[in-house]
Amino acid sequence: MKKVGVALLGLGTVGGGTYKILTKNRDDIKKNYGVDLEIRHILEKDMSKVKALGANPDIVSCDINNILKDPEIKIVAEFFGGIEPAKSFLVQCLLAGKSIVTANKEMFSQYWHELESAAKKGKAGVYFEASCVGGVPVIRTLTESMQGNNIKCIMGIVNGTTNYILSKMADEGLEYETVLKEAQKLGYAEANPTADVDGYDSMYKLSILSSLAFHTKVPIDKIYREGISNISKLDIEYGKKFGYTLKLLAIGKKENGKIEARVHPAFIPSDHPLAAVKESFNAVHIVGDNVGDIMLYGRGAGDLPTGSAIVSDIVFASLQSKHKYSSFKNNTDKVSDRGFNKDFQCEYYMRLTVKDVPGVIASISAKLAKFKISINSIQQKVEGDKASVIFMLHRTSESSVKKAVEAIKEVDTVYSVDAIIRVEE
Ligand code: NDP
Ligand code: HSE
Repeated sequence: MKKVGVALLGLGTVGGGTYKILTKNRDDIKKNYGVDLEIRHILEKDMSKVKALGANPDIVSCDINNILKDPEIKIVAEFFGGIEPAKSFLVQCLLAGKSIVTANKEMFSQYWHELESAAKKGKAGVYFEASCVGGVPVIRTLTESMQGNNIKCIMGIVNGTTNYILSKMADEGLEYETVLKEAQKLGYAEANPTADVDGYDSMYKLSILSSLAFHTKVPIDKIYREGISNISKLDIEYGKKFGYTLKLLAIGKKENGKIEARVHPAFIPSDHPLAAVKESFNAVHIVGDNVGDIMLYGRGAGDLPTGSAIVSDIVFASLQSKHKYSSFKNNTDKVSDRGFNKDFQCEYYMRLTVKDVPGVIASISAKLAKFKISINSIQQKVEGDKASVIFMLHRTSESSVKKAVEAIKEVDTVYSVDAIIRVEE
């Protein structure tokens, strides 16, 4: 029986889930995959977590040298989070010939090239299934199962925290802050939940996913990002009346040789398959030119779902005789803007507060017309001398909408432009 020593960096939510699966399923893994995975060392500061899991305290420390000096440790799985010391520790492990497995999308999306360069030198492997969409096997789908396709689009709900918040706000009418606290308690949210609610976590994941999908490095600075912290319950309610559900989407498209990558809240038709994805569940819709549509669905966060992806990578890594690296140029070179389309097109929902006087709609329509934006429908609700007006706009470019909004704000009967939300059909 092949015996492989494993080290775990961190014993928090993901590390804890991984520890539980590796210990509980050790015999099944031996029987089914012919490899005995032995946890030989753990780095963790907080001994209460070690105690809670019943792990052997003698193999716990905060010193990476305990892992580097053990030749039996072949695989190091990281779930510290953050950039440092995670990156430096993993680079040292790779140079020492130990393969790495990571759930840390923030670090991985920005230092993938550095890890890969160290991996090539150390003839080791770099595995990152858990970095995107928790327990959903999207990385392996992209790298091992789509070779017969050019991927045209990858679109998904890739953050559990924000999906939990938006679902609970829509279905239970709960306030944003209340639901965010629940998501933190459940272990879905990042240490700093700004990463979730402001769309950074989805942006890191989209950078990794779209680089794999389009065989081109898609750095985070090429991704448009907007989070959900400005979303109001009111817009979720109005959207429902129009037949839409609000989701934080990560979208990567390749059209006419140009890549478009964006993360933002979007209304989708309530009968769209992604609209049914609730709570901390995630889903990714991939369109290949030959296979057509593929939809992957499952838990995007949490200890055991993410631990499941980590253990899958550990088993996969332990069975490789030769590790594979990126299908694209993955180095420190600056990626030019040329291959990217930043002025993407969508339909839009626009909510304004206006003075309830004759001609106000005509003034707004004139501004929209100036930027060649066509109106699909208008609804208004009058309260006293004010009206809330909602325009649903036909497909137009982001730059046109931005210019039109600036022009509309100048109309003296417009009090405020309260919300602009993209609509994806
Ligand atoms: P946690 O904060 O729950 O766990 C991290 C653990 O690592 C903590 O116990 C922390 O101790 C410990 N740690 C951090 N740095 C060190 C260090 N230098 N030496 C020793 N111990 C250290 O985070 P999560 O498990 O939630 O997330 C970990 C990673 O996994 C992140 O990159 C996250 O983005 C990713 N991820 C998380 C998912 C989830 O559902 N939570 C899902 C998918 C990916 P202390 O708390 O004392 O600092
Ligand atoms: N904070 C992340 C989320 C964890 O909510 O999706 C999983 O990557």
